[in-house]
Amino acid sequence: MGAVLPLLLPLLLPPWAAGGAAVCGRCPGPVRNGSIVAQYCASQAGTESEGRCCRERGARPERLLGLDLSDCSLHSLPPGLAEAAAIVILDLTENPLTPLPNGSFLGFTHLQHLMVPLALECPGGSNAWENVTMHGKSWLCQGQRNPCNSSGELAWLCPENAACAPDGPGLVQCLCDSPFHGYKCLREGTFPMLLFCGILGAITLSLSLLLWGTQRRKAKTP
Ligand SMILES: *[C@@H]1O[C@H](CO)[C@@H](O)[C@H](O)[C@H]1NC(C)=O
Ligand SMILES: *[C@@H]1O[C@H](CO)[C@@H](O)[C@H](O)[C@H]1NC(C)=O
Ligand SMILES: *[C@@H]1O[C@H](CO)[C@@H](O)[C@H](O)[C@H]1NC(C)=O
Ligand SMILES: *[C@@H]1O[C@H](CO)[C@@H](O)[C@H](O)[C@H]1NC(C)=O
Repeated sequence: MGAVLPLLLPLLLPPWAAGGAAVCGRCPGPVRNGSIVAQYCASQAGTESEGRCCRERGARPERLLGLDLSDCSLHSLPPGLAEAAAIVILDLTENPLTPLPNGSFLGFTHLQHLMVPLALECPGGSNAWENVTMHGKSWLCQGQRNPCNSSGELAWLCPENAACAPDGPGLVQCLCDSPFHGYKCLREGTFPMLLFCGILGAITLSLSLLLWGTQRRKAKTP
C-alpha cells in the first residue's frame, strides 16, 4: 500500500501541479510561427508559451489561452483535448482530420477563434458562429453564437424550471433552477429525503405485516 501511493500521486494531482498540460506536448515543437495562435498570443500582454500552447503567465491554476495543433498528422482530436477547454483560440489546420463527432468541443465556452481544414465544417455548423470565412485551405470560425438565444435559429427548449446555458459551439446545457433537480428538473427540494424515508418505511411495514400474517397462520395451524 505504501509503495502504491507514490505511484498514484501523479494521477491524483491536477495537471498544472504535475508540470503543464499534456496536450501542449502532443504535437512536436513550439507554437508555429504564422499560426493564428502565434498572432493572437503575441497581441496579448502577459502570455507565455509552453510547447504548442500559450497561457497566462504565472496564473495558478494554469489558464491555457491558445493551442496550435496545426500540421501534426492528426486524423482525430487528441484524447486530452478537454484539458484545454478554457482556450480562446485553436488551430487545427494542415491535418488529415476526418469529420469530428458532434460534442467534440463540449465545455469550450470561451473558444472564439477556430481554424479547421476545408474538409471539415465549423463545429455546430456555421449557424453556431458569428463569422465563418475561408482562409486559403481553412475555415476560420469566429465568435460563438449563444444557442440559448430564442430569437436565433438554434433556439433550444429546456424543460420548465430550467435555464438554458451555452456549453460550447452549438451546444447547450439546461441548468435546473433551485430548488428543482433530477430528470427534467421535475423534482423539488434539496434531496427527496421524505420520499426516500417514506418508501423505505412503507416497504418495511408491508414486509413486517406479511411476516406477521404468515407466522400467525403458521401458529394457528396445528
Ligand atoms: C515569425 O515570422 C515573422 C514574419 O513572418 C518574423 O518577423 C519573425 O521573426 C518570425 N519569428 C520566429 C521566431 O521565427
Ligand atoms: C450529430 O450530427 C449528426 C450529423 O452529423 C446530426 O444528424 C445529429 O442531429 C447530431 N446530433 C446532435 C445531438 O446534435
Ligand atoms: C464578424 O465580422 C464582422 C464584419 O466583418 C465584424 O465586424 C465582427 O467583429 C466579426 N465578429 C467576430 C466575432 O469576429
Ligand atoms: C439574440 O439574437 C438576436 C438576433 O439574432 C440578436 O440581435 C441579439 O443580440 C442576440 N442576443 C444575444 C444575447 O446573443
